[in-house]
Amino acid sequence: MSRLVYVLNGPNLNLLGKRQPEIYGAETLADVERDCRAAAAELGVEIAFRQSNREYELIDWIHEARDKAGGIVINPAAFTHTSVALLDALNAFDGPVIEVHISQVHKREEFRHRSFVSMRADAVIAGCGTQGYPLALRRMARLLDAKKAQP
Ligand code: DQA
Repeated sequence: MSRLVYVLNGPNLNLLGKRQPEIYGAETLADVERDCRAAAAELGVEIAFRQSNREYELIDWIHEARDKAGGIVINPAAFTHTSVALLDALNAFDGPVIEVHISQVHKREEFRHRSFVSMRADAVIAGCGTQGYPLALRRMARLLDAKKAQP
């Protein structure tokens, strides 16, 4: 079981820190990556941290993860609420999947309450700000440990 975790970020998250800071906070995606790398080092996992505004690129990375990664942490951003294609790609991945949202999507517009990705995700973290990412990695490490312990 690979200890490599893909941390994937969807559209507009490259603007984190500049985009609606009252909702998404002041931290940039580079800050999130730094926090994830610190958590990963502590937890003994490796990460591949990526962001794309293109649905197909996220899908290609999920396909790549099939051969390379033990788990996926994903903030699909707006694709959460629209993309059956991302759900299908995640359904073709065997390891644990954790969905992260910086904001508490269930407190927001009704269209954000529905997530296609949640139909596959083993856990969902929403509303913890950017802290949700290291929290997701902590849980992911536990899930990968549990798999390793299986005969
Ligand atoms: C988001 C929530 C989505 O509804 C939104 O489209 C985003 C970010 C979040 O992290 O809170 O772009 O996934």
